[in-house]
Amino acid sequence: MAMADNYFPVPLKRIVVDTVPNFDLFIKQKERYVLYRKANYTFTKENLRNLIDNRIEDLFVQKRDLKLYEQYRLQVREETEEEFKAKGFEGIFCDPEEVNRYHAILGNYHSVDNRLFVEGAEIDFPVYAHVENDVALFPEIESKKEGPWELTPSICSFKKEIMIRKTDMPKYRAFVEKMMASPSGADQPALMRKATALREMSKIVVQDVLDDPRSGEKMKKVGDSVNNMVDFILENETSYFSLMTISAHDFYTYTHSLNVCTFSLGLGSAIGLPKTPDLEMLGLGTMLHDIGKSQVDSKLINKPGRLTDEEFMAMKNHVTLGVNLLKEHHNLPAQVMEPVAQHHEKLTGSGYPNGIKGDQLTLFGRISSIVDIYDALTTVRSYKKAFTPFEALSILAKNEDDYDHQLLREVVLMLGRQVKSAGKA
Ligand SMILES: [Fe+2]
Ligand SMILES: [Fe+2]
Repeated sequence: MAMADNYFPVPLKRIVVDTVPNFDLFIKQKERYVLYRKANYTFTKENLRNLIDNRIEDLFVQKRDLKLYEQYRLQVREETEEEFKAKGFEGIFCDPEEVNRYHAILGNYHSVDNRLFVEGAEIDFPVYAHVENDVALFPEIESKKEGPWELTPSICSFKKEIMIRKTDMPKYRAFVEKMMASPSGADQPALMRKATALREMSKIVVQDVLDDPRSGEKMKKVGDSVNNMVDFILENETSYFSLMTISAHDFYTYTHSLNVCTFSLGLGSAIGLPKTPDLEMLGLGTMLHDIGKSQVDSKLINKPGRLTDEEFMAMKNHVTLGVNLLKEHHNLPAQVMEPVAQHHEKLTGSGYPNGIKGDQLTLFGRISSIVDIYDALTTVRSYKKAFTPFEALSILAKNEDDYDHQLLREVVLMLGRQVKSAGKA
């Protein structure tokens, strides 16, 4: 078609959110170019999300606008570079576009665990490979316009992170529910699947509550999910470690919340806390411990670099914001509030937000402060590698007066058991 010669493709990531392109943007539909956004309108976050949801990877610009496009790119690059330099970005993303890309991925996709995938089974949501700050449909998914798609060996054994669009989360939830309902044996693979399904369900309900932290209904789902995990842990001591296998590829708040909850439950049951109400309250409190992050700018929460002093101050607010939010909208037992309020406090009084010390920290506060830092240290972040459990423990040991010694010892024992059980599997 001759018309094709009048347009050139522009990768979606070249058009930056909150800028105002001064040329028309087109999308290609069935070999035809359709006007998507007229010139001189702001390209919004909603626009980007919409395009991603429709699996559009390229926009098109008329060739007669080439000059305008080039000027736009120059300007965007200069502005964002300055802006990002001013904000002190560092790390692996030197390019501000990469940082934008990173935020777009985190805002629009949800990380899933392919250990729930069974070769030959079908899914009704497309899956993407998250590799080097980019998401791309698996080729076997891309080649078929409409689902259901078959789970191929390459998807099931993919070693890096797999993501789905956030808009597909209801479908994914149904998929996880089905896996949880399917009859499970007591053999190792069945337990592993059950544990993974529990983890996946918890990630979904935590993400839901982070998106809508005032909803009582969503809060109830978190409680149910926590209780399921408590039951699972108490039912089968060895399978507990399959819940703990931490496969975090990045520091998502939902994965971190789940990790802190699971580890705290392990620690709580190791020191003999009863199921009701202690473990259930500890589980809920640790699952919600960072809920205040829902009230802090997501660019800060997911910043792929170290925070400046100013940013760190803003970030610290998440504790008080979380406590206030829960008090205002939910009627939770005082003990559930303890991990939320105290997870950044230290026994020496050097923590925040209140600098409380010693006996002022409750047992749940002490547990959450150890587990929170342990998970932060052992998780990969975009600008740092993960510490091994051993390295993380020696960092904790260096500041041992900040933490409850008996609990620290318990953590060491637990990790020893985990290593042993992993060796057996
Ligand atoms: Fe926190
Ligand atoms: Fe945390």
